[in-house]
Amino acid sequence: MTSTVSPPPYYENRGFQTENFYSARPQVGANPYPQYFSTNVPSVPTYIPRVSTHQSSSPVAPSSSSSSRMCSSSRKKIIIIVSAILLVIVCAIAAFLIWYFVENRCLGSLIECRSSGVCISPSQWCDGVTDCPNEEDENRCVRLYGPNFILEVYSPVSQTWYPVCQDDWTDDFGKIACKDMGYSVDTYYFSQGVATEVTFKSFMKLNTSAGNTDLYKRLQNSDYCESGSVVSLRCIECGVPTISTTIMSRIVGGSMAMLGQWPWQVSLHVQGTHICGGSIITRDWLVTAAHCVEGQFSDPSVWSVYAGILSQNQMLSGLGYRVQQIISHPDYDTDSKDNDVALMKLETPMHFTDTVRPVCLPNPGMMFEPNQQCWISGWGAEYQGGKTASDLNYVMVPLIESSTCNSVSVYDGMVLPTMVCAGYLEGGIDSCQGDSGGPLVTNKNSVWWLVGDTSWGTGCATANRPGVYGNMTVFTDWIYKNMQAYR
Ligand code: ARG
Repeated sequence: MTSTVSPPPYYENRGFQTENFYSARPQVGANPYPQYFSTNVPSVPTYIPRVSTHQSSSPVAPSSSSSSRMCSSSRKKIIIIVSAILLVIVCAIAAFLIWYFVENRCLGSLIECRSSGVCISPSQWCDGVTDCPNEEDENRCVRLYGPNFILEVYSPVSQTWYPVCQDDWTDDFGKIACKDMGYSVDTYYFSQGVATEVTFKSFMKLNTSAGNTDLYKRLQNSDYCESGSVVSLRCIECGVPTISTTIMSRIVGGSMAMLGQWPWQVSLHVQGTHICGGSIITRDWLVTAAHCVEGQFSDPSVWSVYAGILSQNQMLSGLGYRVQQIISHPDYDTDSKDNDVALMKLETPMHFTDTVRPVCLPNPGMMFEPNQQCWISGWGAEYQGGKTASDLNYVMVPLIESSTCNSVSVYDGMVLPTMVCAGYLEGGIDSCQGDSGGPLVTNKNSVWWLVGDTSWGTGCATANRPGVYGNMTVFTDWIYKNMQAYR
């Protein structure tokens, strides 16, 4: 991150340039991601019975009819035995395939309809159209809405989201809902009732007479909620730094971070070198930029993740967390940086401490106002063309309205709906090379939310060229679907 106006010349920054590091770039258009599907169905081996076509070598061909009958009956026996063996093999293969598709999860990114084993694509969940034979794709649709984490359940019948009435609600139901969203039950935080807003006219209410059935079968639409409160659900304790804002404001003129101030910030290394930043969202998942994991960098085994450490020098002595899986946004575009977001799943879950904690993903229905104060952090260059910083830096950047950011004098239409601008049109303060993938956060209702991930900018801290960040609000659906699919 840079805090000084950089001297010209600046260059067009279209994402992290690998420069001398792994200089060979993949061909444009080459798919850098592992192919999970085989395009050709494995062919069933066709058995061709070896029937001898040459005559018996016996020099004297017996011509008696009884011996030829004997010969044909033994041939029949062989055919029967061979076909019996074949039948057993075919049955075994069929039984295996049936077991595989019924018992095992679906191939690739497909999601299984639990009761039937039918596989459907993630986009078919909660889309108001029933795709699973038993409708599970449409009856387990939960989300947290707005800055107060209001639990809402989707009704495919009326195609609307309803808040859940607090009456008879328990943490056990909360855990089920969190699990269905893709969270792990062991980080479950709490649920509480909050006073209903006037805008809520209809609710989902637990039917106590429904007996011990599925949560979603117990929830029924109702216009009445006795307690007058709706469920606010926290699936993970997120967005709480250990260093309070009051201590923060006492830092004079400095931008060097303190431990626990940005506990969700991680440093992503390849071969002992800091490449990009990232943000912790759960014990298993990190958010980073798709442009950080292109080409050779799409291989999970090249990465090491460092959390809760401020100094780059200290990271080299540690081992870091290994990455199990990298999921780049399927609509990421290298040239325009459209959908510049990726998920990293860790091989072993992170251990949360005072200095290692997750940030909150923005909920649908959250509004971030133009000029809203946000903070960026990272080990990026401190001036245009500089090298990676050795200590974690941070700086405040206000959000810039997209219309302003897209004006002719600024980015002239290059800022897409999947992007958000933040910084200063006068220049001087910005993120820079090496900050990519790292967090752009804001504090609202006393929690810290991930507003964006550092993506691109022309030069660094140049006037009229503010930083551009991935717009996290538009990515949360995609993030949750992947957390559900690859739990
Ligand atoms: N693409 C850069 C990286 O890979 C981040 C650039 C941010 N640039 C800016 N001017 N804000 O680290």
